[in-house]
Amino acid sequence: MSQTEHTILVTGGAGYIGSHAVLALKKAGYSVIVLDNLVYGHRELVEDVLKTELVIGDTNDRTLLDHLFATRQIAAVMHFAAYAYVGESVTDPGKYYRNNVVGTLTLLEAMVAASIKKFVFSSTCATYGIPDLIPIPEHHPQNPINPYGASKLMVEKILADFDVAHELKAVCFRYFNAAGADPDGLLGEDHNPETHLIPLVLLTALGRRDEISIFGTDYPTVDGTCVRDYIHVSDLATAHVLGLEYLLKGGESQAFNLGNGLGFSVREVIEAARKITGQVIPVQECDRRPGDPPALVGSSDKARMLLGWQPQYTDLSSLMAHAWSWHQKRHT
Ligand SMILES: NC(=O)c1ccc[n+]([C@@H]2O[C@H](COP(=O)([O-])OP(=O)(O)OC[C@H]3O[C@@H](n4cnc5c(N)ncnc54)[C@H](O)[C@@H]3O)[C@@H](O)[C@H]2O)c1
Repeated sequence: MSQTEHTILVTGGAGYIGSHAVLALKKAGYSVIVLDNLVYGHRELVEDVLKTELVIGDTNDRTLLDHLFATRQIAAVMHFAAYAYVGESVTDPGKYYRNNVVGTLTLLEAMVAASIKKFVFSSTCATYGIPDLIPIPEHHPQNPINPYGASKLMVEKILADFDVAHELKAVCFRYFNAAGADPDGLLGEDHNPETHLIPLVLLTALGRRDEISIFGTDYPTVDGTCVRDYIHVSDLATAHVLGLEYLLKGGESQAFNLGNGLGFSVREVIEAARKITGQVIPVQECDRRPGDPPALVGSSDKARMLLGWQPQYTDLSSLMAHAWSWHQKRHT
């Protein structure tokens, strides 16, 4: 079967990472259907920019899923749809377990009923909790410290059981911090509310926020601020195409970290943004936030070796430059 004969269902394809994956799939020659309830997604990105079919609906809607799988020749599902606000998951865990776990279970049961057995899943480094080892390998113990991370780990466990029971093969990608934007400027990050450091810094540079808060300046890191692993969203998208192809060729279920392998501190990120934007970025130094580990950096050697993944945009300056172009276009 050629790639054009493979239709891929992308849930959450109107969101940040999902839309970049749709672009990468289309460039690789796949036919794509996006399923998104548009709670956080952007309809115009799918319909006008990506010129892709959008089904507006929810992964909890079994009737809709059964109809979709019965009427379309879907070879595999890429599942980005989830809620991903860590703080909200602590105050409203039911919302996270219902959407991220029950919604995924509904989707998986509909897939099994329709004999669709290839699944690429957006997991997260938040499943590891506070790491004992940096860079974090895939075999590191998974002890999430919030309901968001727990909801993703539950899905990983469900997937392992579905493999045994139904031979549903899954690639779980545990992302570190997705960042940047499509280098050609078609797509970018537009969360509302925004909680991620790089867009917050750039919105401050654009004057849309007064200042950027630094939570904790006394960590045992290079400059006292938290260190995180920022991975370019287009490199994440490329990994998804490789993960899909691995499954379509008959690969066994696997979990892979997707990170840059390089950590950057909050101050380093702000300094990179100052250089790229040429703007003054006021900062406010605050106390540490509970539950923030000093450093989170992943080892992605497994994805490089098994999938042949080679991230293209590993330096902070190109990642920041792509994000800045997008934010300027989007907000001015
Ligand atoms: N952004 C990151 O740094 C990061 C890191 C690790 C993991 N992840 C995971 O990657 C995935 C995508 O993240 P993102 O940053 O692109 O988020 P996003 O909010 O931009 O995209 C998620 C999309 O899913 C849709 N959605 C949510 N629940 C749905 C449902 N039940 N049915 C249909 N559509 C639904 C939303 O409308 C949105 O368009 C999520 O699963 C997230 O947990 C993200």
